[in-house]
Amino acid sequence: MPPVDDPFRIADEQIKLIPDDVKIRLVDFHAEATSEKYAMGWFLAGRVSAVYGSHTHVPTADERILEPGTAYITDVGMTGSYAGVIGMEKNQIIERFTKFPARRAEHAKGDVWICAVVVEVDETNGEAKKITQLRIEHQE
Ligand SMILES: [Fe+2]
Repeated sequence: MPPVDDPFRIADEQIKLIPDDVKIRLVDFHAEATSEKYAMGWFLAGRVSAVYGSHTHVPTADERILEPGTAYITDVGMTGSYAGVIGMEKNQIIERFTKFPARRAEHAKGDVWICAVVVEVDETNGEAKKITQLRIEHQE
């Protein structure tokens, strides 16, 4: 992904703007590197209810509670077609990697999954108690 501002500093600044009575705080960290996502999870542990990654389109199997009380997963995965390559038509993506010039790929069709997580949070203090992956596969 192209360079951006420091997400750790920005997250820190943004969390300080949230009123104290807002207990349930969810952070969608849209990023590529798993190490950065994990670091953000630990950076925000105890300050938000959940940190969940997105962008790679591939659900990871590392959902857990980062003590004290932050639900974490490196990537939730996408809702879209798993028949192709991260949601796009597989032959067009292969062509992009093997031929020049690359052309725009279309969305893949079929084998649609819904990927998500369910996070149980104590509403009184915002602490996450449990995180469960949810994956619904629909074969056409
Ligand atoms: Fe993305």
